[in-house]
Amino acid sequence: MMLSVYLVGVGSFMGLILLLTGLILVANKYLADYGECKIRINDAEPLVVEGGSSLLQSLYNNKIFIPSACGGQATCGECRVRVLQGGGEILPTETPFFTRAEVRAGMRLACQVKVRSDVAIEIPEEYLSVQQFQTEVISARKLTYDMAEVRFKLIDPDTIEARPGQYIQIKVPDEESPDGFVFRAYSISSKPSETHEVEVVVRQIPGGKGSTYVHHMKVADKVEITGPYGKFKLNEDPECHLLLVGGGAGMAPMKNLIHHCMETTPQRPVELYFGARSTEDIFYLEEFEALAKEHANFKVVYALSDLKEDSKWKGPTGFIHLHVDKLYHPPEKRQVFLCGPPPMINAVITVLEAKGLAEDEIFYDKF
Ligand SMILES: Cc1cc2nc3c(=O)[nH]c(=O)nc-3n(C[C@H](O)[C@H](O)[C@H](O)COP(=O)(O)OP(=O)(O)OC[C@H]3O[C@@H](n4cnc5c(N)ncnc54)[C@H](O)[C@@H]3O)c2cc1C
Ligand code: FES
Repeated sequence: MMLSVYLVGVGSFMGLILLLTGLILVANKYLADYGECKIRINDAEPLVVEGGSSLLQSLYNNKIFIPSACGGQATCGECRVRVLQGGGEILPTETPFFTRAEVRAGMRLACQVKVRSDVAIEIPEEYLSVQQFQTEVISARKLTYDMAEVRFKLIDPDTIEARPGQYIQIKVPDEESPDGFVFRAYSISSKPSETHEVEVVVRQIPGGKGSTYVHHMKVADKVEITGPYGKFKLNEDPECHLLLVGGGAGMAPMKNLIHHCMETTPQRPVELYFGARSTEDIFYLEEFEALAKEHANFKVVYALSDLKEDSKWKGPTGFIHLHVDKLYHPPEKRQVFLCGPPPMINAVITVLEAKGLAEDEIFYDKF
């Protein structure tokens, strides 16, 4: 008896709290009127926006596209901006992404900052040249049971100037989102010289909004993208050795970089190490083996970590970082790009640091 009275009491209390929280959220959405607010960016003339939205959304509405790979969920940390004025206190959702010095300098996540008064921010100049593109799917094919390759023709504008290793964001329709859409980041797998098209390679995440959207794309579908984004700067010196290590969907930027190097600096030494679980996860191997036959300076190593007993695979086995450890001998001029699941990247970084590579020689995207 006492227990049921206690449970009813706790249940009523929790219900009241939930009701009040809901009321505050609804009131904030529909009743709070912050009026017009100004956003000053890098000392330019301020934008005038309707207050109440996130800084990320307000900038997007004004065609300023900040990287936002997780679509505003405060999980990717890509939407970093420096807030010089306004924006309120930094939130607990943001602090894990910044050092104390960065917090003191005003670094914030644009998706977490609400524009409720005038704001002044500083962003890298290159964000201002990111564009929005209307595109059409011109090919869509499965590479494996969970990997798809989709190619978009750019319609408006019809040209993109991307550096090797950069990525785009795809606008994904999403009924659950207050805006009706979210963005997801995908590395460009086509060559930078293919300026009228963009290709992506996407792994299906069960229940994932962005990856499911891409996996269901068909030829002639209309898709909106923004880009290009990404900090990677390829050292274009033809003598600079390039080490590429990837796993899963991390293949996308590797393909882009390899084809760029073969086209622009065909004599440049390039080594690709790709880690997969089983033969079912292998794709592009034949294409790269053919390339390695044509270019003696291009070396390719695929290793399988979870080989089935009856597999016909005769190639390397085990985790890919062990093969990098055994086979990679860092030359004097070198650059490294890693892309794939976080545990793989962390293991490769440990191997490379033990070989004497410095932090600024290693670029990576974890996903
Ligand atoms: C710079 C950058 C470049 C990227 N390039 C590529 C690319 O070329 N190809 C590509 O396929 N992806 C790439 N990604 C990842 C991509 O942006 C999405 O995060 C991914 O497609 C999952 O999004 P989703 O909407 O399908 O899943 P969501 O709807 O965001 O998530 C659904 C559920 O799956 C979980 N989840 C999310 N991601 C993973 C994961 N990787 N493994 C297991 N569970 C997960 C979530 O926690 C959630 O519970 C890149 C990410 C970044 C930051
Ligand atoms: S943290 Fe991903 S968009 Fe802000």
